[in-house]
Amino acid sequence: MAALAERLIEVVPFAAPLGAEIRGADLAHLDDSTFAAIKQAWLERKVLRLRGQRIDDDALADFSRRFGKLDKAPITRTGRPHEPTRPEVTVISNIVVNGEPIGGLGAGEAEWHTDMSYNEVPPDASVLYGIEVPEGHGNTWFCDMEAALAALPAAMRERIAGLTCKHDATRNSAGELRAGFRESYTPEELPGALHPLVRTHPETGRKSLFLGRRRNAHVMGLPQEESQRLLDELWAFATKPEFTWVQQWKTGDVLIWDNRCVMHRRDPFDASLRRLMHRTQIQGSRPY
Ligand code: SIN
Repeated sequence: MAALAERLIEVVPFAAPLGAEIRGADLAHLDDSTFAAIKQAWLERKVLRLRGQRIDDDALADFSRRFGKLDKAPITRTGRPHEPTRPEVTVISNIVVNGEPIGGLGAGEAEWHTDMSYNEVPPDASVLYGIEVPEGHGNTWFCDMEAALAALPAAMRERIAGLTCKHDATRNSAGELRAGFRESYTPEELPGALHPLVRTHPETGRKSLFLGRRRNAHVMGLPQEESQRLLDELWAFATKPEFTWVQQWKTGDVLIWDNRCVMHRRDPFDASLRRLMHRTQIQGSRPY
């Protein structure tokens, strides 16, 4: 059956170390064999794009649930969910209605990050649906952390093996303070999770760098200055253009990415343009 689906959908890899387009799949009417072929392509290419989709939140959640149980959306700036009836849906938008933003992240830059890596058990995957998109603006970049680790000099790979890093829970990728947190903390008391700098993908067995988010990050057991120097070096290396692919959005695009081996960031865009996206996140397992 999977072979039949593979003939029905087309997997077109992008000219980059990661990413592919899936053609010929309708996420609102997906059978098991087509999903199996999509999952296979996703494990190989780490980020998939499907264009021209028309789905509501039910279909988005149903498709996402095929990858695993859904996580709740992250804590917002106000502490109130953007979609109170759909706790699994993260609204990403710069649209303001009656003086209240309907979603998070606004129109500014979203810095490189891995979704919710500040949790002890961060999501395996995220699915992002472009409901209303200003074409040519607010591109989303992806970075292949498996390729970055493989290309690191051997001495650096040896140096970071066994090291763990604190991932800051207090701010989102736009730098906004989440509800319930203070402006500043010492590295020891900073709320967040400790994760290995190198993690193993539980499904493919392959290893990736796991940096998560740069702001307030700290490599445990190292003096502050040494930790910052090491992290600066790793971040500069991992985000080099040769490890990246950029998504130029069209309305109806759905992206699925693997948080276990990629990071992403978003370009700022003109705040007068409207952009609305819904995202789900699929529960994962503790990184090792
Ligand atoms: C995200 O970080 O999940 C949002 C990316 C985007 O707004 O394109």
